[in-house]
Amino acid sequence: MIRSLTILVLLMFGWFAKAESDDKGAEVYNQACVMCHAAGISNAPLVHNQEQWNERKEKGMDVLLKNAISGINQMPPRGLCMTCSDEDLQAAIDYMMSAGG
Ligand code: HEC
Repeated sequence: MIRSLTILVLLMFGWFAKAESDDKGAEVYNQACVMCHAAGISNAPLVHNQEQWNERKEKGMDVLLKNAISGINQMPPRGLCMTCSDEDLQAAIDYMMSAGG
């Protein structure tokens, strides 16, 4: 029991450490956006799917950021990340729009 708990804690630490070593956008994405934007829940544009994001981008980046801040349809305000600044959200959007690795 103790041993499996220790392993769990180590795994979690490794996950956070990794998130921190990535750039800000990836970090915010992994904390707050991944649960919906990795699977395309409720029509959420998929991470690194440039075709889906290009359609959205036609509205203008300022509109996308505004909608991320105040929410749109099933997209909750700030992706429920109340500690995320506007810059954090923008970084996460840029990350999701990028081709990815
Ligand atoms: C609870 C699920 C959920 C979470 C968490 C979430 N999103 Fe979304 N997001 C959605 C859905 C669903 C849509 C599609 C909304 C629509 O157009 O109907 C969306 C759309 C968007 C859009 C496009 C908005 C537009 O005007 O077309 C942006 C930008 C976005 N999300 C950014 C983010 C960022 C950044 C995060 C993390 C900080 C995040 N989302 C977290 C569900 C989520």
